[in-house]
Amino acid sequence: MEINRYRTRKASFSDIECIYELEKCAGNERALSMGMLIVRIETYPVGQLVGVDFSGNIVGYAGFFRTERLNGNAGSWYDLTSYGYIHGAHRENGSYMFGMNLTGHPECPGVGLKLHADAFKYMVANNMEGIYFGSRVPGFSRASTKYSIDQWVFGENGMSLDPEIRYYQKIGYRIVNVIPDFLEDEESCNYGVLMLLENPGICSPGRVN
Ligand SMILES: CC(C)(COP(=O)(O)OP(=O)(O)OC[C@H]1O[C@@H](n2cnc3c(N)ncnc32)[C@H](O)[C@@H]1OP(=O)(O)O)[C@@H](O)C(=O)NCCC(=O)NCCS
Repeated sequence: MEINRYRTRKASFSDIECIYELEKCAGNERALSMGMLIVRIETYPVGQLVGVDFSGNIVGYAGFFRTERLNGNAGSWYDLTSYGYIHGAHRENGSYMFGMNLTGHPECPGVGLKLHADAFKYMVANNMEGIYFGSRVPGFSRASTKYSIDQWVFGENGMSLDPEIRYYQKIGYRIVNVIPDFLEDEESCNYGVLMLLENPGICSPGRVN
């Protein structure tokens, strides 16, 4: 896949309307408001990345903040992200990034991977320990009569049965834990999954997740 068709840059206030339109197009507007984007850019500007195509159109957005290690103590998406505003959650010197949004325009395959690749490079260059992602489990509502949430999430042979979790696993994330009441989300039966991609260059003693 040609991810170099896109470049990424820090989002600015003038991008907010375009980002919001993009989120609507991807069906994500429920989880994001323009007010949230303003506070995110104010709080952690380098963690708000847009993906742009050759003509300069915004075709992707990834939103991160910084946090400390989550030793199995991750709560709901609302608690983790200060309801998506990040201001109360962000730790300026946190040793991990936490991803809240990863969105690509449906007609621009690869932009999500490009955004993620550049965020990963930034994390490594800044000597952080890794990136967490709080993922939905949107396939579970259709599978819940046949599988338990653990069977569905952890799957077989190390690969999840949920396509969205598999997307993150293919990038290199591993599952940390399943979180009940993560997000109000019918498709996921309100479950979420905390995923972690570690910085391969850092091996700190006692790192458990
Ligand atoms: C998830 C998303 C960012 C991926 O963007 P991308 O990396 O540019 O995606 P691509 O279209 O290049 O797909 C890359 C691969 O992931 C798969 N994939 C993409 N979106 C997926 C999803 N939501 N669930 C499962 N698999 C997905 C594609 O089928 C493709 O697989 P392949 O390499 O085996 O062909 C984009 O599909 C999107 O914005 N979806 C809606 C918002 C969303 O669900 N975001 C994730 C949580 S915030």
